[in-house]
Parts: sequence; C-alpha cells; structure tokens
Amino acid sequence: MADEFPALRANEYRDAWCGQVLPDRVGSEARVSGWVHRRRDHGGLIFIDLRDRTGLVQLVFDPEDAAAEVIELAHKLRAEDVLSASGPVVKREPETVNPKMPTGEVEVRVSEAKLLADAETPPFEIESFSGEVSEDTRLRYRYLDLRRDRMREAIELRHRVTRSMREFLCGEGFLEIETPVLTRSTPEGARDFLVPSRQQRGSFYALPQSPQLFKQLLMVGGFERYFQIARCFRDEDLRADRQLDFTQLDIEMSFVDVEDVIGLNERMLAAVLAAGGVEVELPMRRILYDEAISRYGSDKPDLRFGLELVEITEVFRESEFKAFRGAIEGGGVVRALNAGKRELSRSELDGLVDEAQELGAKGLVWAVVEDGGWRSPVAKFLSESEVGAADEALGASDGDVLLVVADEPLLSAEVLGELRRRLGERLGLISDGANELAWIVDWPLLGWAHDEQRWNPHNHPFTSPAGVFDPDDPGSARAKAYDVVWNGWEIGGGSIRISDPEEQRKVFAAIGIDEGQAEQRFGFLLDALTYGAPPHGGIAYGLDRMVALLHGADSIRDVIAFPKAASGLDPMTGAPAPVDELQLRELGLRSRGKRGAGKEDGEGKES
Ligand code: AMO
Ligand code: AMP
Repeated sequence: MADEFPALRANEYRDAWCGQVLPDRVGSEARVSGWVHRRRDHGGLIFIDLRDRTGLVQLVFDPEDAAAEVIELAHKLRAEDVLSASGPVVKREPETVNPKMPTGEVEVRVSEAKLLADAETPPFEIESFSGEVSEDTRLRYRYLDLRRDRMREAIELRHRVTRSMREFLCGEGFLEIETPVLTRSTPEGARDFLVPSRQQRGSFYALPQSPQLFKQLLMVGGFERYFQIARCFRDEDLRADRQLDFTQLDIEMSFVDVEDVIGLNERMLAAVLAAGGVEVELPMRRILYDEAISRYGSDKPDLRFGLELVEITEVFRESEFKAFRGAIEGGGVVRALNAGKRELSRSELDGLVDEAQELGAKGLVWAVVEDGGWRSPVAKFLSESEVGAADEALGASDGDVLLVVADEPLLSAEVLGELRRRLGERLGLISDGANELAWIVDWPLLGWAHDEQRWNPHNHPFTSPAGVFDPDDPGSARAKAYDVVWNGWEIGGGSIRISDPEEQRKVFAAIGIDEGQAEQRFGFLLDALTYGAPPHGGIAYGLDRMVALLHGADSIRDVIAFPKAASGLDPMTGAPAPVDELQLRELGLRSRGKRGAGKEDGEGKES
C-alpha cells in the first residue's frame, strides 16, 4: 500500500516527486531531486534512476539535449549522490518501457542538473535488500539502512498504524494526553532505568515502565477516555520482541467493565489491522487462561496450528514407570502431544529430550506408534493397557509421533507448549499469511513466585480481582484481566483496575507490600482513590510488536527507526557511554568502575 503524496509546491530543488512523474506529465518539464539509485552508461547515453521517498524516475543524459558540463557531471555520478535535475518528460520507446516501475513509461531528458551532495561508497548496497548485511552494520549506518525499501515500508506502515489508532480513538471521544517520562518507579515487573537528580542529590527519577498510574489518575481527574502513544522503559534482557525503550498504545476508560473495554478494543483492532492489510473477524475468539495453559502450554498460544496438549495423568497413576508415577505422586501431572505422522530420526527424537531438559523438565518420553504399540526407549516399562489408553486419549494411530512429559502442572505444560511452538515452525505447520488473534481472559490474580516464596501479581498490582478478594486465600483469586495474543505474540494486555483504596491496600498486603511501603511508594494513588475514583480500566498494546507482525518482520528492531541491538547497545551513537567525571560529580555520583570487575551483580547501581 503506497502512501499518498500531496502535490509539491515548486522550489529551486524540485516541482515533482520522483515517483509521480507519470505519463500525464508528458509534454511538460519536470524538476526532481533525490539520490542516485542506479547508473547505467550506454556509450553516449547515461541513465540514472533517481530516488526519493515516493519512488524512482529515470533520467536520461544525452549530449544532444544537455550542455557538456551536465554530461560531464553525469559521468561522475555515483550511487547515493544527491542530485537535482530538470528537463522535458517524454514517453519512452515501447521496447524500453519498464512495467515494474510506476514511472516506467516515461523518462526525464535532462537539460540541467546540479550535484547537491557527494556520497561516499556506502558500506552496503542500498538498491537490493539482502539479508547478508550484518545487523550490526545496518544499525551502525541506520540512516543508510532506512533508505532501503523494506525499512522505508516498515516506517511508513508504522505511521499508517499509529494514524489509524489516533483516528479511531479520536472518533470515540478519547483525548491524547502526555504523561511524564521522569517519574517514580511503576511496577510492571521489570527493572527500572534510574535517572539521578542533580538538585536532589542521592535521589533518582525512574523512567516509566508504562504510564499505568498516571492514566489511572487521569480517570480520577475526570478525563473519561484517554490514550497515548507512549514510550516505555524496561531494563530487561532483550529478545526479538523486546527493546529497552519501546512504544505502547496506552488506553484507559471510566465507568466500564471488562465487556466494554473488550468491545471497544475489538473494533479498534479491526480498524487498525485493516490499515495494515489484515482482516480481523469479530467477535474475536476468547480462551480462558487455564484452557490456554492446558491446551497450548502457553498464555500466548499460537493458534495457527493444532498439536494440542492432552493431560493423561490418569492413564499412568498406577504405572510401573517410575518417572511417571513418581511425578504424579509428587503432585505432578502427565501431559502429552500428538505431533502427527512425521519422519523424525532417532537423533531428532533424542534431541527433543535434550530440549525438554534445557527447558527445565526432568525428561521427555518420545514414542512412535507402530502396530498399535509404542516404539520408545521406555516401552518396556509401559503396559499394553497404558499404551492403548494413551493412544486413545491422544487420538493416535500408526506412524504418529507422541511426546510425553511428567512434571509439575505448570512446568509440564510450559515445556510441552514450547516444544509445540518449535515443532509448529520446524514442521512447517504454519501457513503463509495466516493470522489468529484471540483474547486470553479469566487470569489468576496472583502467581506464586517460588524463588521469592511469595505471591506476585500476574499483571500489575492495580488489577481488580473478580468478585470479593479473600486475603486468606489469595491463590484462588481471579482477575478482571485480558490479554490479546496474535500468532503466538502477546500484543496487548490490560484490566479493570481497583478503584477502592481499601481493596487496593488488601491486594498490596497480599503481595507483601506492607502499609508503610504502600504509603511510601503509592501514597499518591491511595490518596487519589479516596477522592472519588470512577470504576475504570484499560489496556496497553506493544505498538512495535503489532507493526512487526503486520510487516512480517521477525524482530521488532525491523520496525523501529533507531533500535538498540540485541546487546542493548546502539552501534550508531555508541550509547550507553561513559560520562565525564565532572558530570558525575554534579550528580553526587562516583563511578565504581565497570561491571564484572570483581563486583557483585547489581552493585554500583546506586553508587
Ligand atoms: P504490559 O506490561 O503487558 O502491560 O505491556 C503491554 C504491552 O507492551 C508490550 N511490551 C513490550 N514491547 C516491546 N518491548 C518490551 N520490552 C515490552 N514489554 C511489553 C507487549 C505488552 O503486551 N500498564 C500495563 C497495561 C495495562 O494494564 O493497561 C502494561 O504495561 O506487547
Ligand atoms: P531415566 O530413568 O531418568 O533415565 O529416564 C528414562 C527416560 O524417561 C528418559 O528418556 C527420560 O527423558 C524420560 N523421563 C525421565 N523423567 C521424565 C519425566 N518427568 N517426564 C517425561 N519423561 C521423563
């Protein structure tokens, strides 16, 4: 989908966009400016494809049309030089028409030309996008990378997406409101970026992990419907779908419950994805959190293929096979998936065992169904009736490959879920262009954090429990929370919020934030809730992820103009970088040297 371009107001550089020198201009003159995309020297004639954001146009330098110095200039032009040129627009000879270019029926016969800037030979070709250029080089010369079609298209798509978000939300009465970037810690579960205060030595601002508390305060402030395309900052390990600073479409509404938020968001998703060429069928599918875990082993399931998990604990409750029976006796479950009829070698099957163990499982049993029995390293420990019952539960028949994991309920699901995801890719089970969106609903409010031995919010601590919250049984509380998943990516999540200060205190207490800490960290929120807070709720989307999915990019880095590399560094600016001793002194800081120089992890953060 091409962007529309308004007619240019002529100036000394140009009176037409390169991509808009079309047959209707034949017979008139055009002046264009841009980058030398390609240059071909055909003896006497020199052809230049000149490029601006709108596309390409062919310039012809012919000694019969132009003065000697213009032809001399054309001889010296190199790729990526910046040029302004003018001359009559003429129809090309039929045999030289290029049907691949919108401007392919015409050319500009140059009478005047001026070199505006000389270009060094770029470190990689702009003309053809090939995956061979290392990402580090692309990021170091991002301004050149951005000249390539695929990056330009990504950034244009991103613009169309944010524009359609704004249009939809403005039409629904939402106000776009900015919130601070220098603020206090907002607990979204990641590490904060801290900014030392010069005026309040020893104190720090935190960059927001999301505008969560501010948008709630805007509801207390009476704005009813808010949105923001907001930068968020989270100091976490980077992955293809994670950046240190990323962008959310952040939304909050007053006097709403779950259905209101979901309803509005479905209409918005349909409008926004349509702007990126994807059709969303409404109402969207909904999957309960527990069902997502038990069927797909993930709270962000990829629904483009089957390979669903099945629980077969009962089949093995009395089994002779210790790994299964032991896991069950320890409170675990046995889960399995039928991967279908696949030609997998012994080493590929054994490789899956290693993968399961790397993912944290004690092991994995694979089996190939043969003549009604199992070919499997553990076949001899299993009875005929166990094998038969398992086959029935899994709908298995000869040739099917089965994978079985016995472990704690969540772990066994997550390990098989991750193997399911990998197999979906490896076995090519995902058809091109398939899109599956769904809501994941009915989340637990809290999850038990084994390492810390305490309850943690699944989402954030401002999420409203569904029903009355019982502090004596925090584990059974459900949340008025919802996520949007798309092709296995979590693209958004939100909830109805707690709007009663007493309930908020109870939830804080349940996750180990005592009264004193609550006052100290969130006193402003608790105060605000005492001055008449409307029922409210909202959601935030990962904009980068949405655009990456629309663009078919594997990484969100490919849809961000200036992203950090996977290492967290910016190869172009060199950020993060050391600062002057003087700057540190002004801030009352002293550097304790580089991390890893014998210091404990995390030390030096507050130095
Ligand atoms: P959450 O933490 O789920 O919710 O974030 C919302 C969405 O932001 C995206 N996202 C990211 N994208 C890129 N890089 C990251 N490091 C990153 N982290 C998150 C995801 C995610 O779904 N305040 C709540 C929302 C609410 O309750 O309204 C919040 O921030 O797509
Ligand atoms: P072991 O008795 O530990 O040598 O395991 C025998 C086989 O059972 C190996 O293939 C293991 O990968 C598998 N296995 C062990 N523990 C489990 C488990 N909890 N779930 C599934 N398979 C297991």
